[in-house]
Amino acid sequence: MQLPDGVRRSIEERAEAVGFPELARAAAALSGAYRAGGAARATDVEGLTAYLATRMPATYAAAHAVLAEVRRALGERSVGSALDIGAGSGAAALAARQWFPNASLTLIERDARMAAAAREWLPDAALLEGDVTRMEELPPHDLVIAAYSLGELGSAAWMRMWRAARVSLVAIEPGTPRGFALIRKVRGDLLAAGGHMLAPCPGAMECPMAGSDWCHFAARVERSSLHRKLKGGALGYEDEKYSYVALAREPAALPEARIVRHPQHRPGLVVLEVCTAQGLGQRQVRKRDRERFREARQAGWGDALGGI
Ligand SMILES: C[S@@+](CC[C@H](N)C(=O)[O-])C[C@H]1O[C@@H](n2cnc3c(N)ncnc32)[C@H](O)[C@@H]1O
Repeated sequence: MQLPDGVRRSIEERAEAVGFPELARAAAALSGAYRAGGAARATDVEGLTAYLATRMPATYAAAHAVLAEVRRALGERSVGSALDIGAGSGAAALAARQWFPNASLTLIERDARMAAAAREWLPDAALLEGDVTRMEELPPHDLVIAAYSLGELGSAAWMRMWRAARVSLVAIEPGTPRGFALIRKVRGDLLAAGGHMLAPCPGAMECPMAGSDWCHFAARVERSSLHRKLKGGALGYEDEKYSYVALAREPAALPEARIVRHPQHRPGLVVLEVCTAQGLGQRQVRKRDRERFREARQAGWGDALGGI
């Protein structure tokens, strides 16, 4: 997964203008803040460019994977407008554009540098620059997305977002115990407020992930040479871990199970750790069960399962 070409090119040009040593310093500060669970702030042009080069490709990949599920469940035509809250440089709005190309987009972002970057690659989107917690009511949209921003917004925020969501609300957070705890809280509150489960859960049951376990998924991000230089390491990709929940106004058809770990492939056997409406479990699919085995071999972490 990669950012759209034009966005990538623009980020590379911005990086060249800043210069590598400055950018490397800002990228190190950013990843330190991120690891400490803090917020990403584009305090200066170096910080903004470091965010665009090292974090935005990953948050885009996560939003792209999540909105793929939403589009699969709802179809393209059910979303005619999308609102991206705490939009930053517009990663989630860009992903919404990929899956819902005809939807009008509105972004709310308080950081002027981030908002200006988003404006560059989403020139036709409406951009409301300001603090979302100070806006009385949010403008109603079919799809409301908060990607990597709820942690910064506080708990009153998602009830207001839900009121603004005509069709669906999507929340994405880092795939850490803390990120998941927040997603779990949003899930519980919005189910209690009358929301219907859309993804990733196969039901509206009490979440069975407990103790040291947390529900998260991974999106593979192709790393540009700039990204590799800034973050070190030889791999041509990184896996962005994320937790998410999507709720809908209307009941939706749900999968029978969701794969919650990397499948284990053994000779003649695929072992799948799954979440079902009855709780967590394991599916062992053997080669002699041809149809199911073929489906299981192709299935990946995060995929929904029909009949397996
Ligand atoms: C970690 S960034 C994520 C940006 C983007 N959604 C993404 O996925 O890449 C969080 C963003 O939320 C914005 N934000 C935080 N609190 C906000 C508020 N009260 N009003 C508007 N924007 C806010 C921050 O300025 C920041 O750009």
